[in-house]
Amino acid sequence: MNTYHLGVIPGDGTGPEVVREGLKVLEAVSRKVGFSYETVVYPFGGEYYQKTGETLPDSAVEEMKKLDAIYLGAIGHPEVKPGILEKGILLKLRFSLDQYINLRPVKLYPNVWTPIKDKGPDDIDLVVVRENTEGLYVGGGGFLRKGTAEEVAIQESINTRFGVERCVRYAFEYTQRRNRRKKLTLCGKTNVLTYAFDLWERTFQEVAREYPQVQTDYAHVDATTMWMVKNPEWFDVIVTDNMFGDIITDLGAMIQGGMGIAAGGNINPQGVSMFEPIGGSAPKYTGKNVINPLAAICAMQMLLDNLEEKEAAQKVEQAVIGALESGKIKSLSAGQMGLTTQEVGDLVVSFL
Ligand code: IPM
Ligand code: MN
Repeated sequence: MNTYHLGVIPGDGTGPEVVREGLKVLEAVSRKVGFSYETVVYPFGGEYYQKTGETLPDSAVEEMKKLDAIYLGAIGHPEVKPGILEKGILLKLRFSLDQYINLRPVKLYPNVWTPIKDKGPDDIDLVVVRENTEGLYVGGGGFLRKGTAEEVAIQESINTRFGVERCVRYAFEYTQRRNRRKKLTLCGKTNVLTYAFDLWERTFQEVAREYPQVQTDYAHVDATTMWMVKNPEWFDVIVTDNMFGDIITDLGAMIQGGMGIAAGGNINPQGVSMFEPIGGSAPKYTGKNVINPLAAICAMQMLLDNLEEKEAAQKVEQAVIGALESGKIKSLSAGQMGLTTQEVGDLVVSFL
């Protein structure tokens, strides 16, 4: 029997509350399907930083390289200056574990309210493949004459042929495997970012020749946001760079029912991947037992899928759908569920 070694970073705010429910579902499904696992819990986050001055030590990263996967709650603290925890923990993990794909399914489950009129689960079922280790996130650039009237601030988007190609290739493979409409849309801005997206477009077209079964399409990022709202059914898989992917996946979260259900994976196909609900630490709901754990449970589903525990992953997804179809969850928004965080977790377990 397989024993998986999982790292758990509950993090800040409501992170620990939703992680608890995700682990509850993991425990239940592991018994049903028959695999075992051990968890290592890491204390990193805003509170730990305030206490110790440390974000994420290199020694912990080295340790994490030996894990099978990482499960992350939320990172973010109202009293820590923006950028410190993001760069020091989340981005550091993505970069040092070379998690070059950010995978974000945008799937509207039955009985979930979407702000898009006249669209249902058949229309909203797409996946965004976001490049996760390059672009504007590399931190290229700097200041010149900072704080003076002649100040210059430069923020560079770094795009390498290697980085773009491995992302595009992953997206083609994923589209083929997903076997829905087998359509892959490159989302870019070739009309203005004529260097970066020229590289993306050429790479996309070259790799496309190896995947004749996949239909290809292109949309500028501004048009992509427009179509995601007006005709989400046009999309199957979207591949894009780090910054555009960040933006369009928040839009994606909204059309699938909100942060209460949106999950994502930071994936290194050859290494250690990390799964998280994409909503933040929600300080105002912390400790109230009112935050929605479904996003964290969906992140656990993705983690299981990534471990190739396909049956377990499917069972978890079916249980989430069962819980939603039961009509017992009044809304996916924090504080309006009509159930507590723990009750939603229990409800999902009851459908396993
Ligand atoms: C996300 C988040 C992060 C990002 C932040 C917290 C650094 O918004 O995972 O989408 O911009 O990538
Ligand atoms: Mn984001």
